[in-house]
Amino acid sequence: MAYTADWFSHHIANWRVWLEPLSYRPHINFLEVGAFEGMASTWLMRNIVTAPTSTLTCCDTWSGPIQAYDGTGEDAEARFDENLKAFGDRVRKRKGRSDRVLSQMIAAGERFDGAYIDADHYGPEVLRDGILAFSLLTPGGVLIFDDYGWRQPLVTVFPGEAIDAFLSIFRDEVDLIGKGYQVAVRKRAGRGGRCSPP
Ligand SMILES: C[S@@+](CC[C@H](N)C(=O)[O-])C[C@H]1O[C@@H](n2cnc3c(N)ncnc32)[C@H](O)[C@@H]1O
Repeated sequence: MAYTADWFSHHIANWRVWLEPLSYRPHINFLEVGAFEGMASTWLMRNIVTAPTSTLTCCDTWSGPIQAYDGTGEDAEARFDENLKAFGDRVRKRKGRSDRVLSQMIAAGERFDGAYIDADHYGPEVLRDGILAFSLLTPGGVLIFDDYGWRQPLVTVFPGEAIDAFLSIFRDEVDLIGKGYQVAVRKRAGRGGRCSPP
């Protein structure tokens, strides 16, 4: 079954560097927002989230306009299920819109050591996903945004504008570890200058 599109493999060299501190560690929980057919998910499971005690949580609507690209009529969710089935219950699916699902995770006190934002590409949604995912990150956790340089004629606010806004507002709380077509930050242990206690 495998994949009908590849938006991931050209990022692997960067991911190896950014995620090296997490690789092969036990008790790692990683969050992917926008998983499609599971290409990045599969790489994460084979290379980073490898310990029996580590998990990958994938949020996707699996119902949008982006479906399998090969005209077979098979949907992206069926491909995701097939591609990830070898990893059993270490891969957790959360089907739904990211704003709702991530808000539920925050309310439930869930925590992640890494997160990848690759869902809706409309700027306000990218910013919302980034802020929600950042809230879910443990100190030292890595947050990766896709599509910093993405452009599309019908879209009025691009992901890059959202990512720049995030980097500006969270500048006291993150260290920038990579900036190209993707952007990666590490969450600092301390929090930024505040006028009230955390
Ligand atoms: C570019 S694909 C993800 C590719 C995947 N990360 C990879 O590297 O293989 C974007 C995915 O985001 C999902 N998506 C779009 N908007 C969403 C939203 N608001 N909430 C959850 N998923 C969304 C789409 O269904 C699609 O599967």
